[in-house]
Amino acid sequence: MIKTYDEFFEDRQLMTIHSYLHSPKWTSQKSTLDDDSSFDMYEVSHLDYFNTELLNHINSKLDSDFTLERIYFNGQDYGQDGAWHPDSDVGYTHLTYLNPDVIPDWGGETELEETPGIIKQISPQYNTSVIFKGSISHRGLSFNSEDAPKRISLAFKLIPNTRVFGEDITPKVTDNSSFMDQFVMPPEEVQSGIADKIPMKQHTKPAVIIGSAMFEESVVDEILDETERLRDSGDNAGGKLVGQLKNNEKSKQVSFDMENEVGVLLKQVFNAIGDRYLQEMLQIGARADCYEIWTNHAFSGDYNPLHTHGSYTPAGLSGFMWLNNPQSIEDSWQRLINNEDVLEEFPNIAKDGMPDGTTPALHNAAGGIDGWTHIAWDLTTRKDVDVLRPYGSSYLKPTVGQMFIFPNWLHHEVYPFFGDGERVSIAMNWNVQFSDEEIMKGFNKQQKEDYYAKVKQEKWESEILETARREKVENE
Ligand SMILES: [Fe+2]
Ligand SMILES: [Fe+2]
Repeated sequence: MIKTYDEFFEDRQLMTIHSYLHSPKWTSQKSTLDDDSSFDMYEVSHLDYFNTELLNHINSKLDSDFTLERIYFNGQDYGQDGAWHPDSDVGYTHLTYLNPDVIPDWGGETELEETPGIIKQISPQYNTSVIFKGSISHRGLSFNSEDAPKRISLAFKLIPNTRVFGEDITPKVTDNSSFMDQFVMPPEEVQSGIADKIPMKQHTKPAVIIGSAMFEESVVDEILDETERLRDSGDNAGGKLVGQLKNNEKSKQVSFDMENEVGVLLKQVFNAIGDRYLQEMLQIGARADCYEIWTNHAFSGDYNPLHTHGSYTPAGLSGFMWLNNPQSIEDSWQRLINNEDVLEEFPNIAKDGMPDGTTPALHNAAGGIDGWTHIAWDLTTRKDVDVLRPYGSSYLKPTVGQMFIFPNWLHHEVYPFFGDGERVSIAMNWNVQFSDEEIMKGFNKQQKEDYYAKVKQEKWESEILETARREKVENE
């Protein structure tokens, strides 16, 4: 598609346009990244006169509602022929020739190859405009005489919106997928472009690594039996926990017996999970020691406010595991994922869960995350996300048998649910013991020797203490 228009701008518009050419801020450009062409360019996209008044004029003359990509003057001195190139896949290019006293002998045509092998030439008549699809290969020739002035044209790069040359088109902006498709380079372009030859890598710098594990139903049932037994006989753990589990006479947090059969077994399992988290996921030479487990018997209205956990070692891990969920939590989730607005925004939500950082559709007190656990490693705002910082929190839907493990500085909270039934979970803490190798990473020879000497000294001292203690007991 190539169209030309004579007498495109009005006289007063031409006067204003020329006034900007009294002191143009030319910069040197090329037609494409990797050719040896060179011409001058003066960017005016930011100027209101161009991006408003002249754009409006173009749209009204062309009966279109193009939006703007950019506007600039082209300046070509003698010998500065442009190289063949397309401009864009999606847009249109609108050129207006601005040499008032141009004569046909000077040449300086714009050449376009819409059909392969057929070159169309447009003469740079003063105030003539040519508009063509940006995908059409083209080049601008300079004037062929040393005595001729700089060949100057004004280029508008335009993006179709809802109307093009008097015809309504589907507004691309409302259709999310096709709007994005416009910006995705087609494969052939990726292959021929210079950018694909530059090696690129993604470097994710994670703020936190969270591990999860899924337990079989039989294991869940066994742990549930134990929580049931402990509900009445176990030690109340509420005194040292922030959980607000109080809305039912059966609301409770109970310490696990870590010495009985189930407790010993669970400690082994959780230690293995902690070790794998440290060694496989964090790639750290360290062992995890699960030293406490407790139950959470939560009923309608019970909740855990935002908090972190502690440990006896400087580094520590925390985790939790869901054992039983009231139906109301699942019901509100189903309501959420069947909500039309939610589905439109997150078509895969049923499969993928709630995307990080999004606040689920809570309008009209929908309760979509009642009973969920919320984890937050960073408190980002909408503004942070606008400037390309990643979201800093995530909502976890209670799933029976699922366990999460994370560093104990990670903030987390549990929202209350409302309805019948009991939400049963267990939570646990681990101390973390680093290996000697891990501690000595980055040590020089002397530091390593000092460290070994210290370890040896400590071992020797504790042996002496132990011997003394034993002798004292024997003597009594
Ligand atoms: Fe171009
Ligand atoms: Fe917690």
